[in-house]
Amino acid sequence: MNQLGKIIQAEVLRIEEESRGKEIPCRPLFHIMPPAGWLNDPNGLCWFQGKYHVFFQYSPFDVNGGLKIWGHMTGEDLINWEYQGAPLLADTPYDCHGVYSGSAWTEDGIMHLFYTGNVKFEDKEYDYINNGRGSCVLHVSSRDGIHFSEKKVVLTNQDYPEDYTCHVRDPKVWKEDGKYRMILGGRRKDGKGAVLFYQSEDLEHWELEKELTTEKPFGYMWECPDLFSVNGQKILSVSPQGLEPQEYCYQNVYQSGYFLVEKEDGRELQQFREWDYGFDFYAPQTFEDNRGRRILIGWMGMPDSTEEYQNPTVAQGWQHVLTLPREITVREKKVYQYPVEELKEQRKDRAEIKGGEVYSFEGNYFEVEAEAARGDLKICLDEDLHLEYEENTREIRLIFTGAGGCGRTIRKTRLEEFHSVRLTADASCVEIYLNQGEMVFSTRYYPQTEKRSLKLEGIWKSADFYKLSR
Ligand code: FRU
Repeated sequence: MNQLGKIIQAEVLRIEEESRGKEIPCRPLFHIMPPAGWLNDPNGLCWFQGKYHVFFQYSPFDVNGGLKIWGHMTGEDLINWEYQGAPLLADTPYDCHGVYSGSAWTEDGIMHLFYTGNVKFEDKEYDYINNGRGSCVLHVSSRDGIHFSEKKVVLTNQDYPEDYTCHVRDPKVWKEDGKYRMILGGRRKDGKGAVLFYQSEDLEHWELEKELTTEKPFGYMWECPDLFSVNGQKILSVSPQGLEPQEYCYQNVYQSGYFLVEKEDGRELQQFREWDYGFDFYAPQTFEDNRGRRILIGWMGMPDSTEEYQNPTVAQGWQHVLTLPREITVREKKVYQYPVEELKEQRKDRAEIKGGEVYSFEGNYFEVEAEAARGDLKICLDEDLHLEYEENTREIRLIFTGAGGCGRTIRKTRLEEFHSVRLTADASCVEIYLNQGEMVFSTRYYPQTEKRSLKLEGIWKSADFYKLSR
């Protein structure tokens, strides 16, 4: 490690040591949170040498997001995580203003990480869109998943097409037909978001293969791209910026969603579906685990929110979590996301909830699973968080009416039919899965009371409540 790296590492260790003693009331049990300060995108997700590895965008220095480095968690079961430190620091001329997002590729006992090194030039006046920013792709490797090699620059801004701004980032790497492929998100000079494909024989030398975008502009920038197949269906996931909010979609400041890809030739990117309709979800990444499952993890947060909804955990010195790991399945061209089955092992004490009656309980870790009959439906948590379904209009709404939303108000979309719901509450992290994961709402929610209550209105076939614990 170089001198700058040693200085940054000492600072990280000092901050983490300081926050280790702090009491964190209502700490999430199953959602990955930062040891100190700020967390954003999941990075480098993989299964390697018997463990799951989750890296994440991490800024221990500033609870509201500052210089980004990579934090690292490992776990054997997607439920219990152990912090392994911050292996990638902003310590070279190619990543000195941020070790930005990237991915992992594992092969022959080696873990390869690829990421974007962010550099902000400060010697002149720049607009930082078309100029003034370096976005190299860097590569490191490791035999034990803990200690990493020297950083190597494998792509620089000169390697990107001329009609691109300097916003090209977030490499995702995989192998296909004997070749390595990399996808990068980008902002073209004509104001169109797109992805770039590179290919390589040796993971070091990369050549531009092609570009993929929509016919009509769909946002000005696509962040955090991912391309993968489930059940033979190719899926392109991107996080576009610059979409106009509509009555039933694009209600957050930035979006994350996917296109089903029939052929990779551009004209096939037609229908975009959002991964999640809640207030707090962005920049997801997927990986395939040792059991062949395609697992998605997102950032349960939102950058640059104009509504300024808040997370009171800032007062405790930390902010944001990652979502639960979700298994992706595809049935009849429909994409489903559902918490990995391991979570069910954490359930205790089943209780039945009767429709129309208030169910009172204490505790901040629980799940509700309910099957609907028909008609209008409502679930109220603490008379603050409301999930409402109107059969006539097919409108589904997530609404906060009390202080628990901390500035979050309403999100709504349309759902053809409401069959079932699973609501998972892990302290302030709430994920609501409809119809076995056909639609998801993720949100932070800060209950204002220790005496909790649940009420299901409408006609339900069954409703069960489970405590969750470690
Ligand atoms: C998405 C993102 C990425 C970038 C990273 C920086 O949230 O903006 O495009 O690599 O965050 O933290």
